Amino acid sequence: MAFVKLASQSELPAINEAREFSCGDKMICVANVNGEISAMDNICLHRGGPLGEGMIEGGKVICPWHGWEWDPKTGQSQVSGAKIRVYPLSIENGDVLIET
Ligand code: FES
Repeated sequence: MAFVKLASQSELPAINEAREFSCGDKMICVANVNGEISAMDNICLHRGGPLGEGMIEGGKVICPWHGWEWDPKTGQSQVSGAKIRVYPLSIENGDVLIET
């Protein structure tokens, strides 16, 4: 487990938007819920939709393909048992770091 640089702070999504970033061989969804930044896996467990291309509604990232809702802080969806990985995130000296 180590913190790696995911992005620069200036690249972060605006309030109540999400964005996807590549991190090694995978993609990470970064969400900004009312100014609170969090990171989770980018791949929807339903059929693999890109969560970082979704919108945020009611604090949840909405999958752009079929509308499953994901809590970016916990990785939990509204579907019982469907949970994706979340990553500790910190911002230091203008860099966005996640623990992988
Ligand atoms: S792939 Fe995300 S809701 Fe279907």
